[in-house]
Amino acid sequence: MTFTAIESILSGKFKGKKVNVRGWVYRKREGKDTIFLVIRDATGVIQTVIKKDSQSWTEAVKATIESSITLAGTVKEDKRAPGGHEISAEKLEIIGLSEVFPIAKDKSEEFLRDVRHLWLRSRRMNTIMKIRSEVVKYIDEFFEKQGFVEVSPPMFISSAVEGGATLFGLKYFDEAMYLTQSAQLHLEVLIYSLEKVYCVAPSFRAEKSRTIRHLTEFWHVESEEAFSTIDDLMQLEERLISHVCQSVAKKCRKHLEALGLDPKELSKIKAPFPKITYSEAIESLHKKGFELPWGEDFGFNEERALTEEFKGPVFVYAYPKKIKAFYVKAYPDKLDIVMSTDLLVPRIGELSTGGARVDDKEELIRNLQVFGLNPKDYEWYVDLRRYGSVPHTGFGMGVERLLAWMLNLESIMDAIPFPRTTRRSYP
Ligand code: 4AD
Ligand code: MG
Repeated sequence: MTFTAIESILSGKFKGKKVNVRGWVYRKREGKDTIFLVIRDATGVIQTVIKKDSQSWTEAVKATIESSITLAGTVKEDKRAPGGHEISAEKLEIIGLSEVFPIAKDKSEEFLRDVRHLWLRSRRMNTIMKIRSEVVKYIDEFFEKQGFVEVSPPMFISSAVEGGATLFGLKYFDEAMYLTQSAQLHLEVLIYSLEKVYCVAPSFRAEKSRTIRHLTEFWHVESEEAFSTIDDLMQLEERLISHVCQSVAKKCRKHLEALGLDPKELSKIKAPFPKITYSEAIESLHKKGFELPWGEDFGFNEERALTEEFKGPVFVYAYPKKIKAFYVKAYPDKLDIVMSTDLLVPRIGELSTGGARVDDKEELIRNLQVFGLNPKDYEWYVDLRRYGSVPHTGFGMGVERLLAWMLNLESIMDAIPFPRTTRRSYP
């Protein structure tokens, strides 16, 4: 038996034709002589009508919300039905009868996260996951066109990338190991073979922050490019973001509308983005009444204020050395300023961090010491500066932050099927 996707029935191609569908009961309305079952499959929902005199009546009476079913019937156009079409059912079979489904209308966000394994069936989560899949596809598409090779970094690592405070430790046989915070250092290894590399892989942070933008496990888009400058990097990033936003606006129109979003808003996101230095950002914040002294890192509020000013993504670059990581390269004429750049976006704040990497062996060893790290733990990383070092840049961006921004999600938790935070690791 062949089954037709609900989406293609709704497209009108099957008007007057007999179809088989399979899926789950999404809604049920019972009248005296008629039962309306709204059926959902991966692609959409459609109303079906079962009459009392049909042989399916008994099954339709039995069918509960979320029961899995197959159904045969004839497609009719009906302007009153959601989607403009309905199926007049001839045969209904229950595959798995559902117990009383715990999710009804008006449940709290908190409850919906407790029953995430069931809530993922909702139209909203179905749509977000489809857009997420497209977004990752457009990221791959972009990097492929730019000649980047996709690589697979390790998840078990032996030394910190982003500082000890957010490191998840674990026992690896008899040794101490960690879950990776970023693939950056391993991507840097690979540019000496492949020159341009990228990955989309999980990163882990023992992040205590309970904000709309922090997870303990997130998917990290990262790239590294040999022989590139920080200007090349900012261009790469803005072109990537434009490509993703333009593609989603064009190709995911229906999904965006289902989430109540206007595709036009995303199609406005176009490279180039404004670029200001850290010092200019501080100056502008002072004018707005912020009191953050030069040299301190921005918090969420400062980042938001900056993006409100530009009404869209903005790069901040040339940061004080002491608020950035050990691997960031200093400007040759200003040793306390480093070639690091954050891309800030409205509502979310920091969307990505990237920059030029220290390519001189002595500078790297000095930095490791200044940051209180043991150069012995980074032998292989220092080696890269021993054997044919090159200037290079790279960046990292969280997929969930990207989605939370693009889709105006209230929480980053809705950008990933199974969110992990300080308080959540179930289901
Ligand atoms: O700014 P971060 O810590 O930079 C790095 O990890 C660099 N090594 C990346 C690189 O240059 N390859 O993290 C990069 C991005 C952030 O801007 C944010 O989008 C995301 O990763 N991110 C998180 N997303 C969700 N939850 C968290 N706890 C995150 N921490 C970082
Ligand atoms: Mg950062």
